[in-house]
Amino acid sequence: MTGDKLHELIQKADKGGYAIVSFNYSDIWDFLSIIEAAEEERAPIMIASNPLVARAIGIELCGALGVAAMKKASVPVFHHLDHSFDVELCKAAVDHGYPSVMIDASKHELEKNIEMSKEVVEYAKAKKVHVEAEIGKIKGKGIEGDFAGGDFLASVSDAVELAACGIDSLAVGIGTAHGFYQGKPEINFERLAQINAATDTPLVLHGGTGIPVEDIKRAIANGINKVNVGTTIHCAYMNGMREELVRLGENPYTLDVVKPVKEKIKAVVKRWIRACGANGKA
Ligand code: 13P
Repeated sequence: MTGDKLHELIQKADKGGYAIVSFNYSDIWDFLSIIEAAEEERAPIMIASNPLVARAIGIELCGALGVAAMKKASVPVFHHLDHSFDVELCKAAVDHGYPSVMIDASKHELEKNIEMSKEVVEYAKAKKVHVEAEIGKIKGKGIEGDFAGGDFLASVSDAVELAACGIDSLAVGIGTAHGFYQGKPEINFERLAQINAATDTPLVLHGGTGIPVEDIKRAIANGINKVNVGTTIHCAYMNGMREELVRLGENPYTLDVVKPVKEKIKAVVKRWIRACGANGKA
């Protein structure tokens, strides 16, 4: 899989009125569950390691796992490095077979954001790797930090300037947050539509967990081509583990615990694929 193929897939999704879902994994068991669910739904997907996971497992191992899985899967699967604040980690991911990386320099001033994104684009393009960057900020207390008030909102002119540096997709701060929402998320659909009208670069919605399906559909109708989902996967995994460990009692065998947990993760993945309209699109 290459960034070119991902570009084609995103263009197809854009024309077809659906979005590609990018699921965050933490280890091999949710990684496999996500791919199995996509195969059962006949959906193209992205599977993403955030920098904490990529560093904990090691970029070499994550990369090798991704390369093998992309080759083996019966549907298009694209391995992605999510939210790297660090140019060097993006370059390492490129070197280890990731067809897609995200450089998140959104905490910096626009000029620095563009400079860092450009450096990743230049390195990645030689290997046909897709580059996502971010404008505005994703709210909440994810690994990005805590943003309150109105300072998260992406400006249209900043989005256009960043998009012009050669990136392939753009994450936009429009009110979504990482983690669970307190109350209903307030998404600025108007700003999303303005950014979409001002640039041809595919747009990415972060903070999928907890956004109602009708808002997801509205975001897709207003220009979102990729939706990121993490927390609900981690929680299905960890809460499922707790339930199975309690059920099985002392000294359980790993695979006896994991098998039913995988089914719980798969159910969540399938719901998201359907919410984004990507089922049957492989
Ligand atoms: P959630 O954890 O809120 O689903 O967000 C995931 C995400 O945006 C990863 O980049």
